[in-house]
Amino acid sequence: MPASPCSDIGIRPYEPEDRATVRDVCFRTGLMGERVDWQWADAESFADIWVGWYTDNEPESAWVAVCEDRVVGYLVGCRDTRSGPHLPFVFLRSVVTRALPFRPGTAGFMWRAVADLARDRVVPEATPDLDRWPAHLHIDLLPEACGRGVGRVLMQTWLGVLRAAATPGVHLGTIAENTRAVAFFEAMGFRRLGTPLPVPGERSPTWGRLHAQTMVQDL
Ligand SMILES: CC(C)(COP(=O)(O)OP(=O)(O)OC[C@H]1O[C@@H](n2cnc3c(N)ncnc32)[C@H](O)[C@@H]1OP(=O)(O)O)[C@@H](O)C(=O)NCCC(=O)NCCS
Repeated sequence: MPASPCSDIGIRPYEPEDRATVRDVCFRTGLMGERVDWQWADAESFADIWVGWYTDNEPESAWVAVCEDRVVGYLVGCRDTRSGPHLPFVFLRSVVTRALPFRPGTAGFMWRAVADLARDRVVPEATPDLDRWPAHLHIDLLPEACGRGVGRVLMQTWLGVLRAAATPGVHLGTIAENTRAVAFFEAMGFRRLGTPLPVPGERSPTWGRLHAQTMVQDL
């Protein structure tokens, strides 16, 4: 049953009891705000890769959007990526611990990624100059929370924290085909850095290739 819309959405700092719902929102918005389960059906590994490090290691840099006490979105951040999550390691750990190449629901993605890498001969390098843009973030809202100014409030909160800490810059990775997200990030002061590169394994709902786009902002 679709969630009922709510009249008022607020934000507050992340609390440990939000962990399960943040992971659920992560999985439910996994493909540019839409469901990802048709190509990656393992919610546990998906949330481990994209939000696990942040909720478990830097919860003070996380906020949730709430609608009548229901978590409908989040922003998770890392103030200094040099001492933060190393995505290839986090990914490989899930590959091993969740046996992703052999698990129904992820095996297709994994072997498609291997074929893509062999064909593309390029690995998306999502990490820019970390002395210049050390912080990064992930942000996701459920469909009923989008387009209502909530993303702006979450982002302004995070940028305010970074500016107060005299952080020189912040970066993020998104999908170039996610035009809403790119427009949002540009409206929030980010600019594109480098050429979008094909993401191994991942496909759009129309089975097209998707491309990783790094974006940065000086603070
Ligand atoms: C991307 C996302 C975080 C934006 O948050 P949001 O709450 O929907 O955005 P806001 O309503 O705060 O919009 C702020 C500004 O962003 C821009 N913007 C937002 N949605 C836009 C759209 N669909 N098209 C063009 N610009 C848009 C506008 O400039 C807007 O300002 P305005 O309302 O004064 O015109 C949210 O839509 C989302 O979570 N989407 C699904 C998951 C996702 O794609 N996450 C990013 C993965 S990297």
